[in-house]
This record gives sequence, structure tokens and C-alpha cells, in this order.
Amino acid sequence: MRRRIVAGNWKMNGSRALVQQLLPPVSSELASLDNGVGVVVIPPALYVASVLEKAGAGLEVGVQNIACQDAGAFTGEISASMASDTGCRYALVGHSERRQLFGETDDQIAAKVSQAVSHGLTAILCVGETLAQREAGAAEHVVAGQVQAGLAKVAAGQWQNIVVAYEPVWAIGTGKTATAGDAQAMHAAIRQELKKLGAPADELSLLYGGSVKADNAAALFAQPDIDGGLIGGASLKADEFLSICRAMP
Ligand code: G3H
Repeated sequence: MRRRIVAGNWKMNGSRALVQQLLPPVSSELASLDNGVGVVVIPPALYVASVLEKAGAGLEVGVQNIACQDAGAFTGEISASMASDTGCRYALVGHSERRQLFGETDDQIAAKVSQAVSHGLTAILCVGETLAQREAGAAEHVVAGQVQAGLAKVAAGQWQNIVVAYEPVWAIGTGKTATAGDAQAMHAAIRQELKKLGAPADELSLLYGGSVKADNAAALFAQPDIDGGLIGGASLKADEFLSICRAMP
């Protein structure tokens, strides 16, 4: 049975006021969700403690990025062990914004995945093609390469702490969602790639991200290889985020 997950990535948004306003309704409504979905909030690291304080039972918390190293003279970084120590259970790794805007390389992403799983976090490895790559017919090839490179350092006993999020870059924050059929096809291809890597692919959760909203979540989550969503903008509104959580079959 794969974990079904809806994770809200706040990106560089939020405030103490948003934590106060959003967490109580989300936490209290979680109890009424009877679809077994695991809900994760991934705020900026500065707000992790206050989100954890407000989070009721059943709500888990993650960080948006971790360092390649465990500790030391790396000003401005936070480590997987610190995230774990403060109560986080998840870490996003290799989000396309980190790859594109901050130049994260495949080697760094593999090191971050390794740090996360070595410290008991579940790494959500983000992969996805650009519009130019899709139009060139290279989407599956690009995504397979990102999966292989990002998971290169995962040891045999660590696969249960791996989640892969497929986020086509052209769908992020644009309002253009992949069709449920196209998203399903890519998720099935990712699962095949995971099998080639020796992972227990049928047990690993694969999430779709990219302009998921209350009105398109159900069609995406109904696909056999889509086990949940990584939600950006819509995770900043309690009502819409909860509607997405409820859209899980
Ligand atoms: O991490 C979340 C994704 O980048 C999706 O963002 O839902 O605002 O398109 P979005």
C-alpha cells in the first residue's frame, strides 16, 4: 500500500500571520478526512517551529531545501539532521526553482537526497522537463536522467524514505496543468525507471506538481500511478488546500 500524500510547498511565501490563520483550520479538518491521505506542510525554514507548534496530530512538516553536508562552516545552510532534530519528516530536494535559479547540480541533488534519508527524513526528489524539452520530444529522457542522477546514492535499505514528485517546469505557477493522461504516462515511466534502479517501485509514492487546484486535483489523483500532489500556490489558501486533500479518492 503506497502512502498517499498531499504536500503544500509554500516556497518563499508566508508570515507568522499566515501560520496563525492557515494551520488551525487545516489541522482541525484533517481529522475529518477519511481517505487516508498524509498531509505535509513545507514552509520556509524560519516558520517550521511555529508550524509544528500549531500542527495537530496527523499533519507533518518538511523543509524546502537542505545542505549537501551535515554540519560545519556553511553559512546560511541548514542540514538534514537539523531538520530532523526540529521535528521535520520531509525534505524537498532538487525543486526546479533550486535547479534553475540557484544552479543546483545533479551531484548536489544526489548528496542532498543521501543526507535526507541518512537522517531519517523522507526526501521528495523533484524532477520535470522544460517546455522546450517536451516540445523536442525529450521529456521522458530528461526525467529519467534526473531520477537516475538524483537517486544515485540511495542505499538498498533507504528506498522507503524516497518520494518522487514529477513537476513539469512549464506547469509550475502558470495555471497550465499537464493532462491527467500525460501526467499518468510520465508517472508510469518514472516507476519503470525506479525498477531499473532496483527500488521497490510499486511501494514508492509518486506525486504530481504544477498548477494543481481544487478543480483539477481529483482527475490527477484518480490516475493509477499518481499517489498525491505537491502543491504550490494553492497550498497558501486553507479552503483550497483542504479541497485538494479531499480530492484524493
Ligand atoms: O512545489 C510546488 C510546485 O512547484 C507547484 O507550484 O502549484 O504553484 O504550480 P504551483
